[in-house]
Amino acid sequence: MTARAEGNPKADGEMRLVIVSNRGPVTFSRDDSGGREHSRGAGGLVTALNAVMRREEEAVWIASAQSEEDARVAAESREAPYEVEGLKVVLVEHDEEAYELMYNHLANPLLWFVHHGLYDLPYAPELGDETRRAWEEGYVPVNENFAEAVARTLEASDGGAGDETVILVHDYQLYMTPLYLRERLGEDAFISVFIHIPWPEPEGWRILPVYAREGILRSLLQADIVAFHTRGYARSFIRTVREVLGVEVDEEEGVVRTEGGREVWVRAYPISIDPREFEDLARSEEVENEEERIEDLPGKLLLRVDRIDLSKNIVRGFHSYDRMLQQHPEMREQVTFLARLQPSREDIPEYAAYAEAIQETVDQVNKKYGTGSWEPIVLSMEDNFPFSVAAYKNYDVLLVNAVRDGMNLIAKEAVVVNEKDGVLILSENAGAHEELGEHALTVNPYDIDEQAGALYEALTMSDDERARRVEALQSTIRSNTIEEWVEAQLKDIAAHGKRRG
Ligand code: F6P
Repeated sequence: MTARAEGNPKADGEMRLVIVSNRGPVTFSRDDSGGREHSRGAGGLVTALNAVMRREEEAVWIASAQSEEDARVAAESREAPYEVEGLKVVLVEHDEEAYELMYNHLANPLLWFVHHGLYDLPYAPELGDETRRAWEEGYVPVNENFAEAVARTLEASDGGAGDETVILVHDYQLYMTPLYLRERLGEDAFISVFIHIPWPEPEGWRILPVYAREGILRSLLQADIVAFHTRGYARSFIRTVREVLGVEVDEEEGVVRTEGGREVWVRAYPISIDPREFEDLARSEEVENEEERIEDLPGKLLLRVDRIDLSKNIVRGFHSYDRMLQQHPEMREQVTFLARLQPSREDIPEYAAYAEAIQETVDQVNKKYGTGSWEPIVLSMEDNFPFSVAAYKNYDVLLVNAVRDGMNLIAKEAVVVNEKDGVLILSENAGAHEELGEHALTVNPYDIDEQAGALYEALTMSDDERARRVEALQSTIRSNTIEEWVEAQLKDIAAHGKRRG
């Protein structure tokens, strides 16, 4: 698990790097003949962490077991990491009920909703015994289990005495892990936490019950670096820590000084993509085959690609499109809205209701404007990434109107491979707006008239203006790739590590 690379915390020793995240790089299953097979984990986070693993090839990645076969791999990887696709993986099996409480009751409705501002506050949330149970019997034990797996993995590894241990903990499912890691590994371990979702303002954070709002902050301050995608989230975090815990902060420097005299750096590293990976994919035969289906859609192509999540603002996006077709009858049959949506977190009632609301809205719009030869909205939920990339290449307008979004990597992936000088409509509340907002059409995600106006403007924009914008967007994305994202973090880890001596 040791690696020597430029930018490592200790120039003279080696670095033992461990990544910890809820979702892992692969999930395992059995094929028809009973043999073990695996598929790569989906999502931007997994792609990004793969880039860290490429950079530090001896690193170990610890993640939750998600399937029955994963549980078998978990048992096998207690002794030593399991090697798959050149990666060293340790899977952690959690108690089933504890995991259910963590994922479906604490992390995804409560924390996710607080971070993305999704509650209808006069009515929700109603916190009580059930919340405390989800915390005590779900979230906390799952996090302890992760810390235990990290400690066990490090113990079984062959690190030398001078080696520095660096643990990269990812996202809101694992907020309590730094506390339990510190208890097990002591002050010498270097802990960095990356939060991939927006950080709310202090009054938003105070929606959480006291034990969670303070417990999480105290745990995060056991890390050496707390990282976000934007400077705005980093600033909100610093303000929250100051107001909720009353600790000393330096907002300008991005430093929190804990009561124990430790220095926690709060930083922004905007996550990105590997443009080459998407360019290669865009040229692949499987994507080219899918393009025929895209070309058959009538008129200009308006595209959105999202997980079915309330934070993505999918229903309001359809209402805005409805408004645009209402205000501009001449646009009817001149555009097709392709919505590529991926089912997500279906056991959570709010998500199930949202999926129904999406279907109802699509039906209404299609009934209102559809003709024999034109379906205004084409809803596509098939699991087919090449089809999404074919759509990325061919959109005229890409709609990203999230209520709030940590970054939104679709905005980057799609723009780098687009061949139609497509226009990006981007919510001012998506993390990507800090980098891409200048050359996109910015929208307030709550204002359907403004979004309808942006849709019309994008669909009727001159060719010159489209080309100018897309060129600027592509060069911005290419100037900060996933490699730079990894490099910047390793550099700060090295710098902070030296200060700690
Ligand atoms: O980036 C935010 C995030 O929640 C990741 O932590 C997660 O892997 C991804 O979105 C998808 O969510 P889920 O793991 O709940 O399917």
